[in-house]
Amino acid sequence: MIKKSEELKIAIKAAEEAGKIIRNHFNKKISKRLKSGTDYVTNADIECEKKIISIIKKKFPEHNFIGEESGNHNTKSNFAWHIDPIDGTTNFVYGHYELAVSIALEKDNEIIAGVVYNPIINEMFYAEKNKGAYLNNKKIKVRNEKKVRLATVSVSAGRRNLLAKRLPFVFAVEKEIHNIRNFGSAALHLCYAACGRIDAVLEPLINSWDVAAGILIAEEAGAKVTNFEGGKWLPMKGDVFAANKNLHKKILRIIKKCQ
Ligand code: IPD
Repeated sequence: MIKKSEELKIAIKAAEEAGKIIRNHFNKKISKRLKSGTDYVTNADIECEKKIISIIKKKFPEHNFIGEESGNHNTKSNFAWHIDPIDGTTNFVYGHYELAVSIALEKDNEIIAGVVYNPIINEMFYAEKNKGAYLNNKKIKVRNEKKVRLATVSVSAGRRNLLAKRLPFVFAVEKEIHNIRNFGSAALHLCYAACGRIDAVLEPLINSWDVAAGILIAEEAGAKVTNFEGGKWLPMKGDVFAANKNLHKKILRIIKKCQ
């Protein structure tokens, strides 16, 4: 186990507190509405985000917050917390357990700490820059699969209007690999790659609060994470592609042929 920074400790505490709220609501009648055509927001999302921000703010009042439900709080700080109170809201609405609280701390375009917590099955993934990645305090590593045809890859559909644009990538990859998965939470996809439950992750046009924590966790577990062009992923921007270094090179070649 690593010696955790104050920032990581507070992120874990905030995730655990949000987790209590999620468990209280889980599998009960959930109050929800559609916020952007296809995207659910529930009372639990809003309650959790408020709780997370209030816990972190007490310790770091100057920091900026970019929350899925409350937007960009925009202080002048060069620290920003990217918060998804429930990544996998649709699963939550349906009483499906693949969901997570995702909290990441960014400093000058680098994610320096990340926590992804599934409160239903009590799985706490976390990482800090250059300190490795952990699941329930045990170090985790990506799988070492080298063969594209044996790789299982998670692919998110993204938003309805974005899927058509991204389908060529998905079709091209699907033809070459072993199998596709979609667990309904981008944060968990990245953590599952980090601990070897899948081999690669393709997240088209995804928001930073969904993936910022998971990206650091995957990188610290040995994954290479880029955008679909093979360039650096930057907070607030675009596609995410993660895989072990071997597979990353090979699958990127397939993706690039579609551009
Ligand atoms: C969603 C999940 C899903 C992805 C969507 C995200 P939310 O996050 O991560 O896997 O396909 O694009 O918006 O809305 O449940 O926080």
